[in-house]
Amino acid sequence: MKDERIVILGMGGHGKVAHDILCQKHYPDHVFFLDNDVDKWNQCYHGSRCLGAIKENLSGWDGLFIAIGDNVVRWHLMNMVEKQGYFCQVAIDESSMSTRCIIHQGAMLAKGAILGVGSVVRRCAILNSGCIVDHECDIGRCVHIAPGAKLAGGVKVGDRAFVGLGANIIQGVTIGPDAVIGAGSVVLKDVPQGEVWAGVPARKIKENECINVETNTADIS
Ligand SMILES: CC(C)(COP(=O)(O)OP(=O)(O)OC[C@H]1O[C@@H](n2cnc3c(N)ncnc32)[C@H](O)[C@@H]1OP(=O)(O)O)[C@@H](O)C(=O)NCCC(=O)NCCS
Repeated sequence: MKDERIVILGMGGHGKVAHDILCQKHYPDHVFFLDNDVDKWNQCYHGSRCLGAIKENLSGWDGLFIAIGDNVVRWHLMNMVEKQGYFCQVAIDESSMSTRCIIHQGAMLAKGAILGVGSVVRRCAILNSGCIVDHECDIGRCVHIAPGAKLAGGVKVGDRAFVGLGANIIQGVTIGPDAVIGAGSVVLKDVPQGEVWAGVPARKIKENECINVETNTADIS
């Protein structure tokens, strides 16, 4: 495990979080970054070097992880990687807790994240620091549950949706794909696809204008 060569796509804040987790099991000098920001090329972060831009051809690595915080950008990279026949590895911090649940490739459980029994976290979803996703939740592909958010049992979150910092979602609620839940909100009912909800209790404040029309091109469950 320690000898594998791992590449992290993205050297921003989320990339650094991923690096911290992956270096719990890999030597830092065997972990590398790729980032499209030319200023990051050849930079070294805690023993791991940025080799250059994110390439179309990602062959030659023992493992890769997509560490881009933007859900739609991560979605496109996930599709690019999977079209090449590769799958991302998981990044599960040793301080997170999860038992009897399913965590798909490319997902991250950051520091202190708690995942309840019977839950599923689908590909490239992020459970960020200190969030609680209770029993039998279904977290879609490329979802981001921000730090400190709490989801009660049986909550479903659609692909690419974002649940903001410290938001609370009561049991059984469905958050539609590409929906956004504002920081600190309390969600008491279902949120339709592509809507931005915020407040206590949460109400619709606008449409999510950041939806990328090409997000439905690949149905890879
Ligand atoms: C919900 C959110 C995405 C909306 O951002 P935005 O599109 O820039 O919206 P605006 O700031 O223009 O706000 C629109 C209205 O909603 C209100 N609003 C925005 N966010 C809110 C929130 N979290 N709770 C309550 N009301 C909120 C604003 O006060 C404003 O009300 P007004 O029209 O009466 O003045 C953003 O405020 C938010 O909460 N982001 C989450 C950030 C986060 O969790 N980051 C963690 C990163 S890991």
